[in-house]
Amino acid sequence: MLAGLFLYLDSTMRLSTILPKLAQWGRVALITGGTFLLAGCKLNFWQMDGHQTTMQTAGPVAEAQLQVFYITCWVTLIIFVLVGAVLAYATVKFKARNTADEHAEPPEQSHGNPLIELSLIGLSVLALVFITVPTLKAIWYTYDVPEEQKATAYEVTATGNQWWFKFDYPSEQVDGIGMLSTANELVIPAGRPVRVNLRTSDVIHSFWVPKLAGKVDMIPNRGNHLWLQADEPGYFWGQCAEYCGESHAVMRFRVIALNKEDFAAWVAHEQSPARTVAVDGSASSEIPKVKFASFRRNEYGYTAKWDAHADVSPLDNWKQQQFPVKDENPQLIAQGRRVFQEKTCIICHTVTGHEGIGTNGPNLTHMGSRTTIAGGLLENNADQLARWLTHPDVVKPGNKMYFGINGMAGYVKPSGQDWESNITLSDDDVSALVAYLQSLK
Ligand code: CUA
Repeated sequence: MLAGLFLYLDSTMRLSTILPKLAQWGRVALITGGTFLLAGCKLNFWQMDGHQTTMQTAGPVAEAQLQVFYITCWVTLIIFVLVGAVLAYATVKFKARNTADEHAEPPEQSHGNPLIELSLIGLSVLALVFITVPTLKAIWYTYDVPEEQKATAYEVTATGNQWWFKFDYPSEQVDGIGMLSTANELVIPAGRPVRVNLRTSDVIHSFWVPKLAGKVDMIPNRGNHLWLQADEPGYFWGQCAEYCGESHAVMRFRVIALNKEDFAAWVAHEQSPARTVAVDGSASSEIPKVKFASFRRNEYGYTAKWDAHADVSPLDNWKQQQFPVKDENPQLIAQGRRVFQEKTCIICHTVTGHEGIGTNGPNLTHMGSRTTIAGGLLENNADQLARWLTHPDVVKPGNKMYFGINGMAGYVKPSGQDWESNITLSDDDVSALVAYLQSLK
């Protein structure tokens, strides 16, 4: 912009005829400075520390990928500087300096200089070799768990769905159910390679955890895989990285890496049935009025406690989420459990030990202990839960909870050319459902 302004002033005020030298160097300085200024504003390159930056890695796979990026950047930067310098030199050195220059005959033309041509070919090949060798090594390394680490590798299966992720643990069983299954938050052991089998139940998705590894596609009818490792316990953001329909951009997930003891405890708890809150016989059966925040469309889905610079680490927040909500109301929770059946939520969601047995939607057995809802999009708190339950179509356009799945109706059902309301929730229903879902620790 600054360079453009200068060129405009240059043409209107004829700066170049008045101060030719100044104009010349001014242009160079402004174009260069402007470029750096814009790049600095936009990228803040050296401080990239967001949740989904690939510039700060937390495991060997992402690190190998980052190194390839750096090598490619350096090689191309050197080429850019060399070519740019020669071009700048030639432009300044051989420019027309007076009218005679402008009308002079072109210099004698020559053809072919074997030394220069062979050198350029040699240097180009060398530059490609510098990029190719580390790239091939990284592709080989990141393809699968290295042979010598296979014995210690942990295995999980990730399945993409429009628009959420299902995570299965083939080596962990749940009595009477089959393999352990959860959704949207993949909990893994830290310091151990994890092989992730990649599947999809519908269209192509792509599994990406920027700080750990990615991206690898989940392809219909074709097994795919990747591996990753979190060196230390931590909380990482993941994202579907392949366009998969209208809510692709809000198809997210988390990876939580725990130390050995915490991971074993998590698995054991996850294998247990859903938590049941006993109703105190003397408690009032009246449903208290709960006031939830109202949200505008596209409003941010989480509070400041998830900011990159928040005081409490995201992992500590996750650990805090494992405990029951302080002021929970057993009466309200029992009511919510009834609403969960009456409103047919049980047809699509499993709550082991309670009524739900459906597998179309995410398993909700320990939903209250996850930090996110709605496929990693919203923070798991009362307000956001109410937002999701009352406006699923606004939060995640096109989702199957709203429109139904496999011929079953959801919040709406087809009616001729249009849709009519099917599941309706009163304010009391929402309060009760929120209390119930939050109790599923
Ligand atoms: Cu799933 Cu994009």
